[in-house]
Amino acid sequence: MKTVVLKIDAINPDLRKILLAANFIKEGKLVAFPTETVYGLGVDALNAQAVTAIFKAKNRPFDNPPIVHVSRISDVHRLVDEIPFNARVLIKRFWPGPLTLIFRRSRIVPDVTVAGLDTIAVRMPRQNVALALIKKSNCPIAAPSANLSGKPSPTAASHVLEDLNGKIDMILDAGPTTIGVESTVLDLTVDPPQILRPGGTTLEALKAALGKVELSSAVTAEKPVTLEKARSPGILHKHYSPNAEVVLIEGESSRVIKKIMELNRNYRDEGRRVGILCTSEIQKQVDADLVKAFGSKNDLESIAHSLFRLLREFDSEGTNVILVQGLSTKGLGLAIMNRLRKASGYKIVKV
Ligand code: TXA
Ligand code: MG
Repeated sequence: MKTVVLKIDAINPDLRKILLAANFIKEGKLVAFPTETVYGLGVDALNAQAVTAIFKAKNRPFDNPPIVHVSRISDVHRLVDEIPFNARVLIKRFWPGPLTLIFRRSRIVPDVTVAGLDTIAVRMPRQNVALALIKKSNCPIAAPSANLSGKPSPTAASHVLEDLNGKIDMILDAGPTTIGVESTVLDLTVDPPQILRPGGTTLEALKAALGKVELSSAVTAEKPVTLEKARSPGILHKHYSPNAEVVLIEGESSRVIKKIMELNRNYRDEGRRVGILCTSEIQKQVDADLVKAFGSKNDLESIAHSLFRLLREFDSEGTNVILVQGLSTKGLGLAIMNRLRKASGYKIVKV
């Protein structure tokens, strides 16, 4: 299969290109497109065959359902059983934006789209290409992140090509995404609502809107969870991992620097190529084969924006081990640290 790459303006997308992509969606084809968080791999959410094809292209386990993207509230009514009051509050405040809500699903949704669950994940993205594509396709679009299962999510079209070239029909390339980590997944079928995956909408903002919001035990877990049947199946699978081994070092920065340098020596003695990913504050105080800063510890937005790109860069530069400095879990830090903990396979050193 040839993957067509169409460059498109992120803010004022060319309608002809949108219509071309929308026709692909209507024909059951696979179209990667930008959202404000990461690139998604989209198909008609109501076309079971097309949804099955995204699982295959990504090599994604069938028990991990994708998010269904909408451009209008009226689409939500078709997909869900009922819109509870707290959902209305959140929709008003956070949509379009990086917040995915879990509802009880309606009967029109094919089983494969929700992996056989009786719930559905829905979000309205805040990205003009995404919104125009959903509108012109005239259907809700099921879209997991457009990466091979287990790899860091794609924040640029080149990442999508790296993972899926020849396996999907089209990529709409609107340049790098703005937020860089995925949406927050919030389960509204339980009381109080639970964050199943922290993301671009912070816990603090959700609490301000709803009062009580909990973190699922999977989010706070320091070790892989072994729940018999997790409510968010995705949390059980390996995630966000570059090919290199990732080790996360958490603690006060002078101790982190010392530990990073000690680990660097140990790994180098084993003949491995070591990379360091750290804040700009300590960048000059550490040393390895490859050192990259993901931003200032006071600018979590920049760190989120560059995180997945940098993990992929270490791989393409042949790093075997990446030593990563841990961050605060306040605000966006919760999403960033969640991705890093998973990327490390919970190899976490506390100092
Ligand atoms: O920002 C994002 O959310 C991106 C862009 C493309 O919108 N999408 C994304 O999709 O990250 P994906 O498929 O990579 O992650 C979807 C997450 C998974 O953790 C999955 O388990 C969870 O949403 N999920 C989907 N349906 C669910 C459901 N019914 N109940 C609980 N969790 C669900
Ligand atoms: Mg994903």
